[in-house]
Amino acid sequence: MSVAPILKIEGLQAKVAEEELGILKGVDLTIRPGEIHAIMGPNGSGKSTLAKVLAGHPGYEPTAGKVTFDGHDLLELEADERSRAGVFLAFQYPVDIPGVSIANFLRTAVQSRLEEGQELDIFEFTDMLAERMQMLDMDLAFAERHVNDGFSGGEKKRNEILQMAVLKPKLAVMDETDSGLDIDALKVVANGVNKLQDEDPSMSILLITHYQRLLDYIKPDFVHVMVSGRIVRSGGPEVALALEAEGYKTYEGQEPSTNGSSPSSKSTKSKQS
Ligand SMILES: Nc1ncnc2c1ncn2[C@@H]1O[C@H](COP(=O)(O)OP(=O)(O)O)[C@@H](O)[C@H]1O
Ligand SMILES: [Mg+2]
Repeated sequence: MSVAPILKIEGLQAKVAEEELGILKGVDLTIRPGEIHAIMGPNGSGKSTLAKVLAGHPGYEPTAGKVTFDGHDLLELEADERSRAGVFLAFQYPVDIPGVSIANFLRTAVQSRLEEGQELDIFEFTDMLAERMQMLDMDLAFAERHVNDGFSGGEKKRNEILQMAVLKPKLAVMDETDSGLDIDALKVVANGVNKLQDEDPSMSILLITHYQRLLDYIKPDFVHVMVSGRIVRSGGPEVALALEAEGYKTYEGQEPSTNGSSPSSKSTKSKQS
């Protein structure tokens, strides 16, 4: 008996809202609890678009296919309902919120997940935040910094990981592409993800990255290659190693079979079950 997937994406197509041109052209992906999946692919292949569609970004419109998350029809949920259901999206370019401390930002995020009429106990929240920061070996003073205001790459990532630690998502979608991760930021992400998964081995991760080196620090169970809005290859960590050696040129101009699932993605499914 295989465990029920936490996320099942079937034939997902999507375009930019108000435009004709499709970006995602039939994406299939199944993630089970506790699995780490990496999506790699050349610039412009649709990786960030996939992350944004999963998060419910208003600028993108799903046009076909289905996404099931923990029994919910994900595409029918508003962005805040998705977050409440347990999806976390780490933005590729997190916004600056000068004047708002990390602690206040997180408090609002936690409050917004409560049922209507429920009040967040500020003392309980403060204790919980301190406990979460200690778990991640973070200096408590960091919570008083303003969100992303003048943050280094590593500090932005620290903020992102802290949000995950506080919100405890079932699935974290992390789009790290092009974010210019220096080695410090990379280690923050990797240590954070690894600690959170040690704490809750059922947490699933969808890690989107252009570069193989992040996968030296976070070991994925499955690696998928996205080209032109489709997953053209799926396999284990060896897929990432092959990419490092060969680059994306093997995939250039490659169009997968029209049913959207390559033979290798089928073998992934049998491995997963
Ligand atoms: N808001 C948008 N308006 C117009 N084109 C877009 C928009 N978002 C993405 N695209 C186009 O869709 C393609 C995929 O983009 P993206 O998902 O950001 O790729 P990746 O993250 O793999 O680099 C690119 O050709 C990009 O120019
Ligand atoms: Mg991107």
